[in-house]
Amino acid sequence: MLALLCLCVVLLVWWFKRPKKSPMTVPGPRPWPLIGSMHLLAGHETPFQAFTALSRVYGDIFSIHLGSASCVVVNSFTLIKEVLITKGADFGGRPDFARFHKLFGGDRNNSLALCDWSSLQKTRRSIARTYCSPRFTSLQYDRVNSVGEDELNTFLDHLNNLPHGEPCDVKPIILKACANMFTQYMCSTSFSYDDTDFRKIVRYFDEIFWEINQGYAVDFLPWLLPVYNGHMKKISRWAAEIRQFILSRIIDKHRATLDSNSIPRDFTDALLMHLEEDPNMNWQHIIFELEDFLGGHSAIGNLVMVTLAAVVEHPEVAKKIQEEVDLVTGGKRCPNLFDKSRMPYTEATILETLRTASSPIVPHVASKNTEIAGHRVNKGTIVFINNYELNQGENYWENPGVFKPERFLSSGNIVKPAHFIPFSTGKRTCIGQRLVHCFSFVILATLLQYYDVSTKENVKVQRGCVAVPPDCFKLILTPRK
Ligand code: HEM
Repeated sequence: MLALLCLCVVLLVWWFKRPKKSPMTVPGPRPWPLIGSMHLLAGHETPFQAFTALSRVYGDIFSIHLGSASCVVVNSFTLIKEVLITKGADFGGRPDFARFHKLFGGDRNNSLALCDWSSLQKTRRSIARTYCSPRFTSLQYDRVNSVGEDELNTFLDHLNNLPHGEPCDVKPIILKACANMFTQYMCSTSFSYDDTDFRKIVRYFDEIFWEINQGYAVDFLPWLLPVYNGHMKKISRWAAEIRQFILSRIIDKHRATLDSNSIPRDFTDALLMHLEEDPNMNWQHIIFELEDFLGGHSAIGNLVMVTLAAVVEHPEVAKKIQEEVDLVTGGKRCPNLFDKSRMPYTEATILETLRTASSPIVPHVASKNTEIAGHRVNKGTIVFINNYELNQGENYWENPGVFKPERFLSSGNIVKPAHFIPFSTGKRTCIGQRLVHCFSFVILATLLQYYDVSTKENVKVQRGCVAVPPDCFKLILTPRK
């Protein structure tokens, strides 16, 4: 008996002390000098298609050198969840691209989306959450609704002034409507669509949004920087002018009427009050945070444009949205957020646009030596999340190449599969996603309630991107009878 006990003890000791399997290295192509494996991305519409092709050779996780940067690409939902959720704390960094610094006053840590994870970021996210992720039953949600309703009237006036039945530039009007919804909701201020400075700033935000959606070789080959000097100066200037506008036309006025003893009137008040209370926050942080969130309007305006591009290519989709909105509003008023639950097809169309557009998740960076699925990942490695595969892969969707909003509907309700994560998931998930769903819904539904939309142009949208160029296709609006 004693011998048996001793044997058990010895076995237990051996089990716990046994040499652990050392982590495997991540497989991947052998890099070339200077450019690494950048040549393997050529010949594809988006780098993410190249990643999918490479995953067929090397597996769901592989390493790739882009220039001198060590990168890892994760391609399956299981591994993506490991990076974003289970080990989210190990992958809280962002790449150190020169472009990112230029956009945010010389330091990308000024930006909420491009900074490394820090306690400051935690604070910034928590201040923003109440306003930028409003819950359905909250006062903020009611305010998003009323701001949207008010702006839609101005939006419709401007659409009405366009020459109907002929191609016209609808994007600037959509962007200005989105911008005013944001400034009104976050700063209790809005602007005339004819205000020269406002027009200019909306344009700059749009240029930057397009810019941020493009990949540049210089991100990985910093020795190309001198070639991009002019370009870098231009983006720094756009960003500086936006900041100046926010300061002089929004914050200064707001500050003059701030009452620190009452509840915040809006997000700007909340930020200014935080500045007074929190010694870790400074003036720069406030301006950059407001700028970051106001810039979100461009993402929504572009998403609406990408949705319209899909709608003009699929007139049957437009017809179904029109039937839905007519039924709910009786054609007598603009749709609002409280109609949303009765307009699932419209919502499904936006989800299908997000799926097909498949905008990339901002790359993460390992903030310590760690592992993914037992593979060693060193501190500083850039991790690409291949959500293009999640959105377009045959393993995840039936006929993924077909634009079909119905795939998000079941018995008249919205259903989203777990692997559908256009706003990412985990620690650094998008804070603006509720605003995206709210404002894109009311703008799209209102436009289609009042107009039939068509085009004479090729409206093909760049793959793997939720943006259209600042000067893009024109649309023909024909008032509905
Ligand atoms: C088409 C619309 C949008 C899409 C598809 C989108 C998607 C995303 C994605 C994929 C991320 C990266 C998450 C990660 O790294 O894991 C992100 C981050 C972020 N988004 Fe959005 N977004 C949209 C609009 C907005 C809007 C309107 C706002 C602001 C009101 C916003 C604010 C942010 C912020 C602040 C972050 C950074 C979060 C962090 O890194 O901690 N987004 N978004």
